[in-house]
Amino acid sequence: MKEQIISYLTPAYPWKEHFHFFRSIGSTNDHIRALAKSGAPHGTVVIADHQTGGHGRRGRSFHSPEGVGIYLSILLRPECQPTELMHLTCAVAVAMCQAVEQSAGFRPGIKWTNDLVSGKRKLGGILTELGFTPQGKLDYAIIGVGINVRQQPGDFPEDIQDMAGSLSMIAGREIDRAKVAAAMMEALKDMSDSLLTGKEDMLARYKTDCITLDQDVVLVRGDKKRYGHAVDIDSDGALVVRFGDGSLEAVNSGEISVRGMYGYV
Ligand code: BTN
Repeated sequence: MKEQIISYLTPAYPWKEHFHFFRSIGSTNDHIRALAKSGAPHGTVVIADHQTGGHGRRGRSFHSPEGVGIYLSILLRPECQPTELMHLTCAVAVAMCQAVEQSAGFRPGIKWTNDLVSGKRKLGGILTELGFTPQGKLDYAIIGVGINVRQQPGDFPEDIQDMAGSLSMIAGREIDRAKVAAAMMEALKDMSDSLLTGKEDMLARYKTDCITLDQDVVLVRGDKKRYGHAVDIDSDGALVVRFGDGSLEAVNSGEISVRGMYGYV
């Protein structure tokens, strides 16, 4: 698989020497964090065929069975302030739409902020984290992406069968995982190059891809629910919601559900 992925990379791809492949691993994000702490360079990539402890946001597990998905983490060392990276997850989401479009022939949508979706099905997710030096300066950014590539509906655990999908299911044909992985690596390289300079273009693209915009949404924080309408994405990638009482708020945290998706009815 590693050789196959490399064979699909362009000759100009600069980080081939920093690409690690594992048949099975706990979590590619946990592994790359350890590499980051021992000085691994900008552009280090870890891909696994299987994760035994893949995880997503809010400590949820990310189902990562063998041979059907791509589980990838990349280490970046951007030279900037952490406040300049507020839009990082959005930039990764756009890059992943690009990679899927190129390798599977259709462009997924983005459920704000970090889910790749098609219709009502989640195809993948993104988990980003920043690391700091003891002096509090930005040391690294870790980006983890999991994409379901070859699963058929019956392959997903029963509790997520109605809301999970794969690239093969949506494309209606077999999709080559190595091609998807290489496209992800290339798209992340391009994303990294334009992270600080191409923010406006990226956000414009994000707004086009984001299925949460112009939808009724519910913001769930603890056991409190607030209903509103998603009207914009701001320059940091926050979702701007108009709530029932007319107030406008840029939402950064909490859990947003879109009417009709993943059980918001
Ligand atoms: C989410 O849906 O909340 C994010 C899921 C992120 C999963 C990927 S798979 C590769 C990397 N390793 C992990 O443990 N998580 C990310």
